[in-house]
Amino acid sequence: MGVKLGILGLGTVGTGTVQLLQDSAGRHPLLQEIEIYRVGVRSLDKPRAVELSTEVLTTDLDSIVNDPAVDIVVEVMGGLEPARSLILKALSNGKHVVTANKAAIARFGAEIFTTANQAGVYVMLEAAVGGGIPVIQPLKQSLSVNRIHTVTGIVNGTTNYILTRMQTEGSNFSDVLADAQRLGYAEADPTADVDGLDAGDKIAILASLGFGGRINLQDVYTEGIRQVSKTDIAYAEKLGFVIKLLAIAKRDTPSSPLSVRVHPTLVPKAHPLASINGVYNAILVEGEPIGQVMFFGPGAGAGATASAVTSDILNLVAVLKTNTEVANPLLTCGHQEYCQIAPMAELITRFYARFLTNDQPGVIGKLGTCFGNYGVSLESIVQTGFQGELAEIVVVTHDVREGNFRQALAEIRDLSAIESIPSLLRVL
Ligand code: NAP
Ligand code: HSE
Repeated sequence: MGVKLGILGLGTVGTGTVQLLQDSAGRHPLLQEIEIYRVGVRSLDKPRAVELSTEVLTTDLDSIVNDPAVDIVVEVMGGLEPARSLILKALSNGKHVVTANKAAIARFGAEIFTTANQAGVYVMLEAAVGGGIPVIQPLKQSLSVNRIHTVTGIVNGTTNYILTRMQTEGSNFSDVLADAQRLGYAEADPTADVDGLDAGDKIAILASLGFGGRINLQDVYTEGIRQVSKTDIAYAEKLGFVIKLLAIAKRDTPSSPLSVRVHPTLVPKAHPLASINGVYNAILVEGEPIGQVMFFGPGAGAGATASAVTSDILNLVAVLKTNTEVANPLLTCGHQEYCQIAPMAELITRFYARFLTNDQPGVIGKLGTCFGNYGVSLESIVQTGFQGELAEIVVVTHDVREGNFRQALAEIRDLSAIESIPSLLRVL
């Protein structure tokens, strides 16, 4: 007997998944046991890139999640509602769920996984982070015996594309964003991508898996790339760095709080993530005893996400075929406790800061004194340029507690010689 799929959504990801399932030759033989039984969409009149019979397509998505014949619901419609309610209904009705919806999982994961566990079914989400890159299953299974220290990712293709073009062309953020929207790389409303929110959802999911606890999304610090200027990219280049939007989850010891954050970061050119360019994603996992493992690949697109979604479906088909009543602990998500997240003031990091100052004697000395007052040690300080009448001074600190650095900056802002502090970026 075939396994019946109810697919919610036939956009980029849904269409890619249907195409893959309709072209199963040369792929895993279990794919042939899958039947695309119902597909839910918003409009029946839209032209579709795949052929489906009229009985399969419906605009009544509730009828899919309530249909006793459906074994697996594939939620690839996106958004928070009605996606959340439909996922919960499907789970309560005893159906396994595959989803690509990082926004829903990052916000409603606790309720979704609790419902799944109570119903004895699984929620699979490989496509939710890193598109086609296998990273969810590796964190849940292959790497789960490691004590994870750090998960560092370039997990948003849109911002990586923009930063790469700013770097290679010396262009402004707003010009590249406009071009990326014209070319279809960036959404008409780019907020979730450029303000770091999409990456925040993704690192919350990766942190939960890597560190074995729930993450409250409100505790995840997010800073986007709107304020990254071509001037900073040029200074970073001279100092031996590239600027990347990094999503980082880190824990120094098993008993210390987690740091979970998204922000533009100066990455040393020799670092493995420095060479990840364009729309590509990569996730570097560091743990003991494994050391470093990096996952790299396409973070979005029909084919990439179809690969991830269909591998989840395949896992569930295997579960359904083995017909066991006992839950597989490597497929469930049983975290009950919330991870303790450290406030940003406690973060230990290096900083890059750019100052515009009056060109007068003693300014660098005053900067050094203010930093010294708060225990901020400087790794480098350069004054190479002018902006009009104003001197431009760039500093890179040694590792410093963020709270101390900000106290020093507050004092520096009050110096009469300081005109403005246009940039503050963290350094990996
Ligand atoms: P999309 O192209 O906008 O497609 C959404 C689909 O869902 C459309 O078929 C739409 O129907 C249907 N839909 C949406 N709301 C509906 C509603 N209220 N009732 C009925 N049907 C509804 O989205 P996508 O790019 O495939 O993304 C889907 C999910 O995958 C999102 O959670 C996204 O974050 C995630 N994701 C996407 C990518 C990617 O590369 N695109 C990568 C990773 C993860 P119509 O076709 O009738 O409008
Ligand atoms: N908007 C996302 C990105 C799509 O740019 O990476 C994949 O989640």
